[in-house]
Amino acid sequence: MADESPLIRSLRTAVAAAPGDVPLRLHFAELLLSEGRNEEAVAEAAVALQHAPGDADARALMMRAMGVPSAPVPEPDPAPVQPPVAEKPAASAEKPAASAEKPVAEKPAAPSEASAPSHPAFDWDAAEQQVQDLVGPRFLDDPQAEGGEGAAGDAAAWDVDAPGAVRLADVGGMEEVKERLEAAFLAPMRNPELRRLYGKSLRGGLLLYGPPGCGKTFIARAVAGELGANFLTVSLSDVLDMWIGASEKNIHDIFETARRQAPCVVFLDELDALGAKRSRTHHSGLRNVVNQLLTELDGIASGAGNEGVFVLAATNVPWDVDIALRRPGRLDRTLLVLPPDAAAREAILRYHLRERPIEAVDLGKLVKVTEDFSGADLAHLCESAAESALLDSARTGSVRLITTKDLLGAAKQIKPSTEPWFAAARNVAMFANEGGLYDDLLAYLKRKRKL
Ligand SMILES: Nc1ncnc2c1ncn2[C@@H]1O[C@H](COP(=O)(O)OP(=O)(O)OP(=O)(O)O)[C@@H](O)[C@H]1O
Ligand SMILES: [Mg+2]
Repeated sequence: MADESPLIRSLRTAVAAAPGDVPLRLHFAELLLSEGRNEEAVAEAAVALQHAPGDADARALMMRAMGVPSAPVPEPDPAPVQPPVAEKPAASAEKPAASAEKPVAEKPAAPSEASAPSHPAFDWDAAEQQVQDLVGPRFLDDPQAEGGEGAAGDAAAWDVDAPGAVRLADVGGMEEVKERLEAAFLAPMRNPELRRLYGKSLRGGLLLYGPPGCGKTFIARAVAGELGANFLTVSLSDVLDMWIGASEKNIHDIFETARRQAPCVVFLDELDALGAKRSRTHHSGLRNVVNQLLTELDGIASGAGNEGVFVLAATNVPWDVDIALRRPGRLDRTLLVLPPDAAAREAILRYHLRERPIEAVDLGKLVKVTEDFSGADLAHLCESAAESALLDSARTGSVRLITTKDLLGAAKQIKPSTEPWFAAARNVAMFANEGGLYDDLLAYLKRKRKL
């Protein structure tokens, strides 16, 4: 920096020579702040906090540098507050923090109406971004560090909006599911020779089922990523919202497109709605969709012109799926996707904490207390822990990071959303397991003593 003052330059040198000297570093940060170099001041204050986590001067300085008013922030509104930490695209990590240029936040906080209208609201997003890469260590210990096996999941930067980028290696744990996918779907897809050998027996589609939020859609995307195959998603909402009156044609078009784009995976999400029992389907447009779907599935089973088109489907309520859709050659094989096991939970937690300001988080502990949590529950847990840490920071006027305690506290508040599903599934498995359709489920329920 050419135009840097000599004082700043020599202080910078001094700090580099004595990185653990907190007062010196704060002095340096103070000087940076006085020159309006807030971002650098935040960075220095963050390093000082690493050396002296409780240091009040360092905290105060950081708050000032981040544009937080020095008087305590007014009590937050006791009514439920919008989660202050919005889910951000991974790319936002690279965005430079903007508080120096932009002291007034875009996002209104929730102060009690009349008390302090003149306070600028605290820009949580900017604050979070400023701290996130500066403060560590993030995790207390890393149970998978030496394991090798989970290493791929470690750098997991999957993005739900980017199909093709998610691979099976991004799916944490769930070895059984992966093995079955490999045998039932991936191997024949990759290997035309094998496909020819087994002929028609491999033509039917695969139906993923299980409790909500446990990774069915995610796994389907991973399968497509794994194959480098084109991936066509059809969900009921698409069909109903856009296609009333033209539904059969549109279903046909989907499969036509898939044939043109082969190899191609057609993914029928929320199949229960799409293939709802025909007797219950009063909506005649929907019934036509079901019939057309049956025709297409049979076309694929018969082979002609359908080489390289594969069908994956998912549902939370397989017992509501039109039985005709599950006949041999159609969606005749099923794969039970259960709540994430320990390794999967760790991968999911790691993913949802990746951009949050956390400190010494004990993932092992967290994994232990989150049995039966779905992927979606785990995301919610991270969100509410962040919320409580941030509200706390606002209340006390001193920024603090998200700790294991916040996360364990949030876990206590959350009831696994998979419970009601298992209550319903239990009845089906016990009383309507025709032809052994739900043997996997039954075995799991027995193992978990849920019967
Ligand atoms: N094994 C896993 N590894 C990593 N992430 C996972 C895993 N399982 C689930 N997730 C995460 O959990 C979230 C919810 O999963 P997904 O949306 O695929 O569930 P679903 O079974 O399709 O739910 P629904 O029944 O509500 O459609 C995903 O965003 C994904 O990030
Ligand atoms: Mg889904």
